[in-house]
Amino acid sequence: MSTQASNGSVLINNEVQGELAQELAAKALRLPQIPLDTVNVSDVVLLATGALSPLQGFMCREDYASVVETLRLYDGTVFGLPITLAVTKDQARDLRLGSVVALRDADGPLAVMTIEDMFTIDKQRDLAIVFGTSDAAHPGVARGLVQGDVLLGGPIQLFRRPMDPFASFHLTPHQLRAEFARRGWRTIVGFQTRNPIHRAHEYIQKCALEIVDGLLLHPLVGETKNDDVPAAVRMRSYEVMIRHYYVPERVCLAVFPAAMRYAGPREAVFHAMCRRNYGCTHFIVGRDHAGVGSYYGTYDAQRIFAQFTPTELGIRPLMFEHAFYCRK
Ligand code: ADX
Repeated sequence: MSTQASNGSVLINNEVQGELAQELAAKALRLPQIPLDTVNVSDVVLLATGALSPLQGFMCREDYASVVETLRLYDGTVFGLPITLAVTKDQARDLRLGSVVALRDADGPLAVMTIEDMFTIDKQRDLAIVFGTSDAAHPGVARGLVQGDVLLGGPIQLFRRPMDPFASFHLTPHQLRAEFARRGWRTIVGFQTRNPIHRAHEYIQKCALEIVDGLLLHPLVGETKNDDVPAAVRMRSYEVMIRHYYVPERVCLAVFPAAMRYAGPREAVFHAMCRRNYGCTHFIVGRDHAGVGSYYGTYDAQRIFAQFTPTELGIRPLMFEHAFYCRK
C-alpha cells in the first residue's frame, strides 16, 4: 500500500506482513530463485520501505536509460543513480517476462519480483557516464564490470527483512515522518555519513541546526569498501554523541540501510532524494560528498544540484565548504 507524502510525492510501501508475508514466503520457495548480492539486498529493503519512492522495484529500461542520461526517471522525477538487478545470460535464459521470481539472500528468499523487463546494456559506456570514469579501480565501476549482462526490471514485494544488526535504529520513511511529526519538527536537515563523527561533521551539523527544527543523523550502514570504518564503530560514535553531547530534543539518530556506490555528485543527488522520502526538508552536502580517491572535484557534488529547481528536488541542499583545523 502506498500513501501520499506531505510534499505531494507518492511514498511506496511494498513490504508485506502477517499472513500475506507467510503466504508469499511459502510461494517463494517454489519460484525460480535469483541470488542477490549485498548491494541488491540493501536496494530491496530501500525499495520496499519507500526510501526509493516513486520506484516500485528494480528499474526497467526506460527508467534506467533516462536516469543514466538525464538524472531523471522516465516520468521526469529527479533520480541520481540506476537501481538495477543484474543476472547472467545463463540465468536469464530460464526466465520469462511476466513471471514471478524469488529474490534471495544467504538465508533464503526474502522478496518476490514480477519480471516486467529483461534487457542488456552497454555496460562500459553506462558505467563511465554514471561514475565519471572507466577506471576498474573505482569501486562502483569494479562492481558493475563483474555483474551479469542482463538487467531484470519490475516491482518487488518484501516479506522478510534481512538480518540487520542495526534493526533497532531502522526507521522506514513512513516511521521517520511520523517521528518528526511527533516531535513537532517542520524543518529537518538530513546528514548522510559513512564515517565516525569528527570535528568538521559536528561543525556543519551545528551550523545547519541554526536554521532548521531538527537534525536527522542518518549514517549509511549498508556495504562500504573494506577500508572504510565498520558501521558498528560509526554507530557507536553517534550513540555517544547523542547520549552525552547533542540536545536530544533537536537530534534524531536512525540508520540509512543503503550501500555506498562512491558515485560522488550523482550519489549526492540520490542521497538527497532518499532523505526527502524519509521526510527531510534540507540535506547537507559538504566537500567531496560520496567521493572516493580523487575521481571527483571537491565541490562537484554541490554543483550538480544547480541543474534542478528546488520544487522538483523537493528538498533543499545545504552546501558547506571544506571545514578544517587551521594551524595558524
Ligand atoms: S560520505 O561519503 O557519506 O559523503 P563522509 O561521512 O565523510 O562521507 O561525509 C559526510 C558529509 O559530511 C558529506 O556531506 C561530506 O561532504 C561532509 N563532510 C565531511 N567532511 C567534511 C569537511 N571536512 N568539510 C566539509 N564537509 C565535510
